[in-house]
Amino acid sequence: MDNSNSFAVVHNGIIENYSDLRDFLGKNGYTFLSQTDTEVIPNLIHYYFSKDEKTDDEKFLRAVKCCVNDLKGSYAIEVISPLYPDRIIVVRKDSPLVIGKGVKENHIASDIPALLKFTKDFYLLNDNEYAVIYNDYIKFYNSNLEEHTKPVKNIEWDASATEKGGFEDFMLKEIYEQPNSIRETIGSRFKLGEPCSFDDIDISKEYLSTINKIYIVACGTAMHAGLVGKNLIEKLCNIPVCVDIASEFRYRNPIIDEKTLCIYVSQSGETADTIAALKLSKSKGAKTLAISNVIGSSITREADFCIYTHAGPEIAVASTKAYTSQVVLLAILAIYFAEMLGSTDLKILEDLKKDILDLPSKIHAILDNTQELQDFAKKVYTQKDMFFLGRGTDYNTSLEGSLKLKEISYIHSEAYAAGELKHGPIALIENGITVISIITDSNLVEKSISNIQEVITRGARTLIVTNQNLPNANFDFVINIPKTNPLISPILSVIPLQLISYYISKNKGLDVDKPRNLAKSVTVE
Ligand code: F6R
Repeated sequence: MDNSNSFAVVHNGIIENYSDLRDFLGKNGYTFLSQTDTEVIPNLIHYYFSKDEKTDDEKFLRAVKCCVNDLKGSYAIEVISPLYPDRIIVVRKDSPLVIGKGVKENHIASDIPALLKFTKDFYLLNDNEYAVIYNDYIKFYNSNLEEHTKPVKNIEWDASATEKGGFEDFMLKEIYEQPNSIRETIGSRFKLGEPCSFDDIDISKEYLSTINKIYIVACGTAMHAGLVGKNLIEKLCNIPVCVDIASEFRYRNPIIDEKTLCIYVSQSGETADTIAALKLSKSKGAKTLAISNVIGSSITREADFCIYTHAGPEIAVASTKAYTSQVVLLAILAIYFAEMLGSTDLKILEDLKKDILDLPSKIHAILDNTQELQDFAKKVYTQKDMFFLGRGTDYNTSLEGSLKLKEISYIHSEAYAAGELKHGPIALIENGITVISIITDSNLVEKSISNIQEVITRGARTLIVTNQNLPNANFDFVINIPKTNPLISPILSVIPLQLISYYISKNKGLDVDKPRNLAKSVTVE
């Protein structure tokens, strides 16, 4: 609230220049009750409101606009005032804000799922666009306060997707939804015997032939999906792929130009670093392709091309079904590019398509048999540290398994490429420590086993996730998963790792869906 209680503000984001604004307002007689950046906003609105000598109906909106002109940073702002009790004013920049259109009521939130039980009709605000919301109509204005109309977007998500539907937690529900979410991701993008089609993107063979490098840029789990995508694209399309963390990429001055295709992966489509990285590559002349789960999210509106994972709303903070859908979509994209470029034998691509179509039933098979994973979780949940090992694409899965464990069970864990063990981390292996290994590539079985023997010799407790016939060895737990093409095996091998994290977290009595210190969309740097 401002000092006179005339304006109340809800703000998501960060006002970077709040200290300067606070000084300015202080010199003009305003006082502050908190240290928050948000408190400058209502007071600045009051400052401009009281300076405006006009008394017309737009005075409130003008004051908000003058205030917003002074703000630096990222924000989604809602303002109300007892002087104008019939309306709410909202504006956003680099922070998400959606308006749900109801019948004689309208709603605002930062995320679509929060409003699905009220409406499926949404207005998605652009940066620096204002909406003045009344109970039965909404007016939209651009940054110069010129009024315009805006199309409403119907979101197909089902409201029941935002309920637990008999599961104890959203995370468990989302793990079990994966056979279906993958079917949705595949959708009509391919049929056996026909080339893949992406109606939603207009990438020509001519353009693709000019590309000499692809970047996949993302954060966290989405970046791990990118690592699997790199293997797929390099193998099938013979184009070099760099995978980068968005927060690093954006400050690295990366070498990209119009011959680089930059792919941005983001479940929410609102991750601040990913969006900033996308804008950077556009400014350097590269074409950008967004992969997102949220229709109309910021990243999809910034990118040149956009494809959706269609995994349905993901509510649990820890990403599970979004990851597997991202990998599936990257696999289909790699096949699509390879078909256009003629870079891989069609028979190999056809076999891979069959393997992709078989994924849902194979995931069912893993989900139907979780007893050993639950027993393992009971044995290890009190541990302080764990290790994940893998080679090749199994290393990518290890990274994702390790991240999941940290996030929801608060157990410190490290993932290593198994061959790196002897270059340092083996010094940490001691009696009783838990090491989880993934082995899905027949070419790497022997090498991986010898790494595991090294940790067993030093007293480690081992769990192996594998689709190979391993020689009899003294492993403590072996989780067998179905065989598939090694390029897409992370989609299957990650499932037991998701479940292990889940069961460990439950054994510890933690809040699985809302782990401490984490947010579902990281909309600030
Ligand atoms: C991990 C997790 C995060 C997100 C990351 C990117 O379970 O959820 O690591 O993957 O914050 O989020 P999006 O995909 O929304 O850009």
